Parts: sequence; C-alpha cells; structure tokens
Amino acid sequence: MSTEPRIPDAPPSGRKPVTIPQLAEMKRHGQPIVMVTAYDYPTAQVAEEAEVDLVLVGDTAAMTVLGYDSTVPVTMDEMVMLASAVRRGARTPLVVGDLPFGSYQGSNEQAVGSAIRYLKEAGCDAVKMEMAGVSGALADKSESVARARAIVAAGIPVMGHVGLTPQSASALGGYRTQGRTMQQAVQVADDALAMQDAGCFAIVFEAVPAAVTEVIMERMRVPVIGIGAGAATDGQVLVFHDLLGLHEGHMPRFVKRFAEVKREMVEGVRAYAEEVRDGRFPAAEHTYSVDDEELERFREVIAPGKPWDAADFMS
Ligand code: KIV
Repeated sequence: MSTEPRIPDAPPSGRKPVTIPQLAEMKRHGQPIVMVTAYDYPTAQVAEEAEVDLVLVGDTAAMTVLGYDSTVPVTMDEMVMLASAVRRGARTPLVVGDLPFGSYQGSNEQAVGSAIRYLKEAGCDAVKMEMAGVSGALADKSESVARARAIVAAGIPVMGHVGLTPQSASALGGYRTQGRTMQQAVQVADDALAMQDAGCFAIVFEAVPAAVTEVIMERMRVPVIGIGAGAATDGQVLVFHDLLGLHEGHMPRFVKRFAEVKREMVEGVRAYAEEVRDGRFPAAEHTYSVDDEELERFREVIAPGKPWDAADFMS
C-alpha cells in the first residue's frame, strides 16, 4: 500500500500540490504568494482553477456564509464541515483551517485537539491561529505562543496571524489598524517574531501600515501574507466574497473588488423568476420527450373512472 497522501483525482491542470518548503522557496526568490479564502466546494474549485497557492478556510465564514455578525460565534464543528468541502474542491493549493474563537484558548491540549480535527476530519494541510496575547483573547501572550508551539510540536504546521486579529476586535477597540504608534508597531513586531520563533511556517499581517510592515519584514524569515499590510509582504490574501463582490456592506480600505458577482447572481435569479412567472421557462428544449404510443397507453390506464392498480403494470 502506498504511503503517499491521497489526492482523490488529479486536478485538470496536472498541477502538483503546493508544499510548505515551496512557499519558503517562493519567499527566497521574491515570488509573490497568493492566498484566498474559500468556504465550500464551488469556491474551492474556483481557487483551484485559478491556481492560487494557498486556500484559507477562514473563520470569516461566520459572516460570509453563515450570516453571523462577527467571527466569534462560529464553532469548530461548523468550520470542519466547511473545510472538508473545501478540501474536496481544492486539490493542489495548500489548505489551511482557521482555528475559531474558543477552539484553542482553553489549553494547549484543546488547541492540539482542534488542530488535529482539521487534519483528520477535513484533510487540511495546516491550521491558522490568531495571536491572542496583546490582542486580548488570552491575557498572557506567552500562553498564545505556547498554543502555537504545542500544535507545531504535534507535527501540525501553523500559520500565525498578527496585527488586527478579528476574534479579539472588542479588546482592540474595534476593527482598527494596528501599529500606528511606535508602541503599537513594537507590539505587532513582537507578536510576529514570537510566532516565528514558535515555529510558524508563515504569518498573516492584517491591517498594519505599509511602512511599519516594511520595517518588520527585515526580521521575518518565514513567509508573511498580508491583508491590508501593504506591498512589502511575501504574499497577499483577500476574502473570496470581498474580492468578487459576493456581498455588500462596509468594505475595509484594503479590499479591491475584482468582480461584481452578487449583482450578476441577483440579475440571474431575477431573470429566472420573471421567465417562470410569464411562462417562458421551461421551454421545449428544457423538457424530456416520451414516445407517443407509450403516452397514449398511459393515458388509457390513468383515464378517470378506471379502477387504479399500479401493480398490474409494474412487473
Ligand atoms: O478568517 C479569515 O478570512 C482571515 C483572513 C482575513 C486572513 O483570517
């Protein structure tokens, strides 16, 4: 029996799965790394066909696909279900499962257990963990680093997340840019370096002034993926629904819309509704035919007033 990881079907492009050493190599060569979030089979297939390097099953799923007001309520069970669908659609990108609020703060054992679920039940390659020290979810920053270390020690690759960490938004005073004062910039740098020292294979910088990122980058040995952190990072990540215009409402400054998919979807469903209502859909080309003779016999059998016993005709 082969011990190679099982990839259900070769992806159509024949592209090889992206690996962690490959990401480090990309950083070394200054080759930008592309990450996008995905939350289900079709969005993962889009990411696969677009040949992105990493797919993050972000806890933003709480808002983008589950309709919660923040990322806080989403559970590990919900995330694992979404991540397993993503894995089925994304065969070659490195798939990262985002540890939701409450799935790692309790203890190192809880953190390792949650990370294992992503690998065993969903087939993820790695997990992401928000740095939860300064940012509030764990009052003691060393606890946060200990969680990352424990997961890494269990043999599971960890991606850190520093700067604006949405799970701790209330402790941060809202969804605010992090690192605008010298003290805050030191804090972001300290978080990033602590996660790097804990053995993270990559780190997300969220909502950090571009110039501050640039300075911190001088000390970063692992790939840094930015979202609202400027162009100096080794790669970029955007939320699928933001970049494609799949939802409306407030958009952070760092989002660029590359399409207006929701508008297209609404127009499509509206056109469908109109055609159903005015009888244009379904047309002949959308219906199945039946042999005239068979239809005539059927009419006779079902004619009103005839005794009905389907068993006579089903043997
Ligand atoms: O949950 C998420 O989608 C994220 C990205 C914004 C990096 O953490």
